[in-house]
Amino acid sequence: MYKDKNKAHIRTENQYKEEYKKSVENHDLFWSEKANRLNWYKEWDRISDIDFEKAHIKWFEGAKLNASYNCIDRHIENGDGDKCAIIWEGNNPNEDKHYTYNQLLEEVSAFANVLKSNNIKKGDRVCIYLPMVPELAVAVLACARVGAIHSVVFAGFSSSALSARINDASCKMILTSDGSFRGNKIIDLKSIVDEALKDCDCVDSVIVLNRINSGITLNKNEKWWNDELDKVDDYFPAEIMDSEDPLFILYTSGSTGKPKGMVHSSGGYMVYTAYSFKNVFDYDDDDIYWCTADIGWITGHSYIVYGPLLNGATTMMFEGVPSYPDFGRFWEICEKHKVNQFYTAPTAIRALAKHPLDFVNKYDLSSLKVLGTVGEPINEEAWNWYNENIGKNKCPIVDTWWQTETGGIMITSLANVTKGKPTFATKPMMGIQPVLFDENGNEFDENNKNGILGIKYPWPSIARTIYGDHERYKNVYFSAYPGYYFPGDGAFRDEEGNYRITGRVDDVVIVSGHNLGTAPIEDVINMHDNVVESALVGYPHDIKGNALYAFVILKDDSKKDDINSEINQLISKSIGPIAKPEKIQLVPGLPKTRSGKIMRRILRKIACGEKDNFGDISTLLNPEIVEQIVKGS
Ligand code: WTA
Repeated sequence: MYKDKNKAHIRTENQYKEEYKKSVENHDLFWSEKANRLNWYKEWDRISDIDFEKAHIKWFEGAKLNASYNCIDRHIENGDGDKCAIIWEGNNPNEDKHYTYNQLLEEVSAFANVLKSNNIKKGDRVCIYLPMVPELAVAVLACARVGAIHSVVFAGFSSSALSARINDASCKMILTSDGSFRGNKIIDLKSIVDEALKDCDCVDSVIVLNRINSGITLNKNEKWWNDELDKVDDYFPAEIMDSEDPLFILYTSGSTGKPKGMVHSSGGYMVYTAYSFKNVFDYDDDDIYWCTADIGWITGHSYIVYGPLLNGATTMMFEGVPSYPDFGRFWEICEKHKVNQFYTAPTAIRALAKHPLDFVNKYDLSSLKVLGTVGEPINEEAWNWYNENIGKNKCPIVDTWWQTETGGIMITSLANVTKGKPTFATKPMMGIQPVLFDENGNEFDENNKNGILGIKYPWPSIARTIYGDHERYKNVYFSAYPGYYFPGDGAFRDEEGNYRITGRVDDVVIVSGHNLGTAPIEDVINMHDNVVESALVGYPHDIKGNALYAFVILKDDSKKDDINSEINQLISKSIGPIAKPEKIQLVPGLPKTRSGKIMRRILRKIACGEKDNFGDISTLLNPEIVEQIVKGS
């Protein structure tokens, strides 16, 4: 089966159109053909079983496979054992490592044995809180190999965000390191874990990688990664998993309440990420592909680890930041490793575009063939800079719209196949049927109009549930427009059917490509002793795309001197520095409707610098407050 690997590679626009038509008219046939690119121990009993309204979604039920086997062993059996699987580039420019598929199998097998010897079995949850070191990818694949469900938590989250995630999924184990390098800073990850574990009774084992040689002493019952590896055998046979067994949980912010643990399946997730990786990036066998995301986010799961490795690709991992040792780091790495496909976030592009072009021009970027963006809308200026200075006007740019919940890329152009258009994600992927709704919830077909995005039919990699809360899953994603998946984004469709994503339609703000729910951050601000109430909104920001603006009412105005830094500290401690507001304005009150709801629409306008034109504010309980807030803004 694997020998047909290039059969799934779409080469022409007509082929895209034909395949798309097929994928919509006969989803089952289409996806079962794509599924044949993977190795299954047993075929499915049924291709799909779907009741979208109930959020009941199953693909390839009854079929058996293992993700780690498909990412590694299969390529070795096919004669590609000596091919480079992972290139790792460290935070410090003189540090890198290469892993062939054979070496990756050894590392993953050995660590799977470590998991087993520490009592981790099929179905157990393992929390991974690591910097971007090769061991992070190894740990993810080792979990998949033993059938444990990994829950990777981005290593920039605070101790309470970490403990909330550990407890939500009742993780039995945490994998972490003694610290991490980030630019010229050292981050003491282990102390964050220690703090988090004070609140986590479910964790039985803690395994710690020595990354920074900190010389710390471990607590009782904690183990060093390398000591554990010394005790185990090399080979671990992959566990046989059902297609619908969960592969991982990954948390994403909601507009209200606690983070949502999105549960992804084994079979459907792999079929979709393997297929989309190949076609979106036009990946050819000897290409070197680099996605700059962190594996702590979905982009890293699907398009650093699973998608590329399922295709036997060479995938890069980067531990550092784009500004260290200087603003040319990305381009230095592209030259050094002769990167062919480069996939990053608009916020990084905007940040780098602010610096002199010398940082770009001193490097040879001629290896680049395809560029990509993800995470937020890309503005035209950033698109042009990327296209001219990085792609030298010869590399297609794929602007890929998708979500933690969707598992894989949903709307995008296909490199060298379908046309891109600046600021448009463009066309749906195979099997994806976008629709637009007007403000009354009616679907419309007209083009050149803004609407709210919905998706008509489930695709194999859609999340199956929110861990422990299927009702919430149904309510958030399937109740707004019954029979459709509701992503929470607005979109515009042009006369050629290209989609431009216009941004969130709920209280989630995308800051530097990270999803931040405003409600949980407000909850933290309100925990400050001197805060009565607060409201947080997003506003456009040159580099971050959006930034947060907090309006805060104090109990006692005489104690306001240190309030900004105290609020920022609270947020850093409870969620993480990424959630800190750019601006904090102290206000005497907030605009409210008669039912007591904060009118965020008005606050958003004030945050954007508007002084008037707030529309009808007569329905407010306290219309006079608007002028007072504007004065203080
Ligand atoms: C936004 C990231 C415009 C969108 C893969 C979505 C985008 C949210 C794009 C999901 C894009 C992602 N153009 N907006 N190309 N890609 N978004 O879960 O609002 O971290 O709903 O997944 O990011 O963010 P998440």
